[in-house]
This record gives sequence, structure tokens and C-alpha cells, in this order.
Amino acid sequence: MAGNSAYGWDAFDSEAYLNRNYARLHNEDHKILKIVRDFLCAQSFDVGARGVDVRSGSNLYPALAMLPFCSEISLLEFSEANRKWLSGRLAKGYLGNWDIFWRVLAENEVYRAVQGPGEQLRTRATVREWDILRSTPDERWDLGTMFFVADSITTDRAEFTTALRQFIALLKPGAPFVMTFMENFSTGNFNGYKVGTRTFPALDIVESDVEDCLSDLINGREFHHIDPAADDPIRDGYVGMILVHGHTK
Ligand SMILES: C[S@@+](CC[C@H](N)C(=O)[O-])C[C@H]1O[C@@H](n2cnc3c(N)ncnc32)[C@H](O)[C@@H]1O
Repeated sequence: MAGNSAYGWDAFDSEAYLNRNYARLHNEDHKILKIVRDFLCAQSFDVGARGVDVRSGSNLYPALAMLPFCSEISLLEFSEANRKWLSGRLAKGYLGNWDIFWRVLAENEVYRAVQGPGEQLRTRATVREWDILRSTPDERWDLGTMFFVADSITTDRAEFTTALRQFIALLKPGAPFVMTFMENFSTGNFNGYKVGTRTFPALDIVESDVEDCLSDLINGREFHHIDPAADDPIRDGYVGMILVHGHTK
């Protein structure tokens, strides 16, 4: 078993991760975008709501999904390399490869009403250093996302639980949230995933692991299973993705 601190997160190769996962729109992300879009559009938010995306890595689509509803979005990241990547990417003020992701969101008029989403993201998003296992919040957010992380930062089940519960603790009571996970994410003989030349840890989890960790903290949870695309799976040998949305208690 290897805990989170055993890995070189500051050397995470953000561009390699982006190219592997988000240079184009995979079927799985397409499905996730639609579910997140429809869930968020069914919520009501106060003007000036603040969103948080935990451990953004080099994935901007959770932040884009929150954009119409938030005047500020905090991107909390542990890895120095990913923080640098995020700040540099946001400063560009245009969508680039994220445009294909935005187009799925913009099938809904709420998203279409956002003028210049790349520029809007630049002005509303702030990148902050954060350790989800150890940092304690002195503020709470109105809406939150955490994509492919609690299961992808450790092989220690206790740390998985801590990450989930710490994420919920970042949100105000009644706040909507969305989380995604790789299901039983093991590649070959090694429980983990490669980014560039480095390997990072992953934990085999199923829906009931998420449910068990969170049942006392959330309401109205709804789970979705995202099957691997038969003709174009994101990775070899993975069995699917889990998405859960709901509200904090
Ligand atoms: C598999 S990546 C997920 C990135 C992105 N959310 C996505 O959807 O593709 C895992 C992320 O967790 C971050 N991370 C690792 N340990 C962390 C910790 N203790 N606290 C916060 N983030 C951490 C890494 O830097 C990396 O960005």
C-alpha cells in the first residue's frame, strides 16, 4: 500500500495528461458533460455563487460546467506543476481544445448565454494550492466538483475516505456537487496509471465504496454508470466510470 505522499505530484506532466485524456472528446466525457450540464441547469443558485473544483489537474471541463452559475471559481490543486499549467492555460483566455467540450454544454441555452467562455473563465477562476487530505477550509463554497481524484491519488482506502469527506466539508449545507471516479481502475498488474514517464496510484473502488463513505453527509444522491466505449475505450482494461451528484446535508 502506498499513500498519497509517496508520489511525486510536483512532477506531474500536465501536458502528457492532457494529451492522453482531453486532446479530443471521448464518448465517456461526452456522456458526463451532458449529465453534469442537466443536473446543474436544474438547480437554483444565488447571484454571486462561488464554485470549487478540487484537483483540477489539466482538466478544465468541470470549471466550464460551473461557469454560468458562478461569479468566482476556485481551482484547488496540490501539484505545483498542475498549478503552473492551470494558471498559464487560463491566462490565454480562449478555449482551444476545450471548445469541443463547451459545445456539448452549449446545447443548453444557459451556457449559450455566456459570452466568451474562455475569457470569462480567465476572469472568474483562481488557482490555489490545496492538499485535500490535510488542508482545513476556513470558507465554504456554493457548488463543487471533484473529478477522477479520490480514487486516483492513493492506494490507501483511509485516504480515499478522507478525500471524499474533506471535499464535502468544503461545501455549504445544501450545496450541489458532482464527483466522478474510475471504477475498479487497475491497468494490467499495477493498480495505477501512467502520466508521461511516471506512475501514479489508483484504488479499486465500486459504487458502494462511495456510498458507504458519504451516506451520512449527502442527500438526494444519484449514481450514473458510464460504460467504456466499445470501439474507443479511454484506457485498456477499465470497466467504466462512476458519476454521483447530489446535495450536501
Ligand atoms: C487523476 S488526476 C485528476 C485530474 C482532473 N481532476 C481530471 O478530471 O482529469 C489527480 C489529481 O489529484 C492531484 N492531487 C494529488 N494529491 C493531492 C492532494 N493530496 N490534494 C489535492 N490534490 C492532489 C494531482 O495533482 C492531480 O491533479
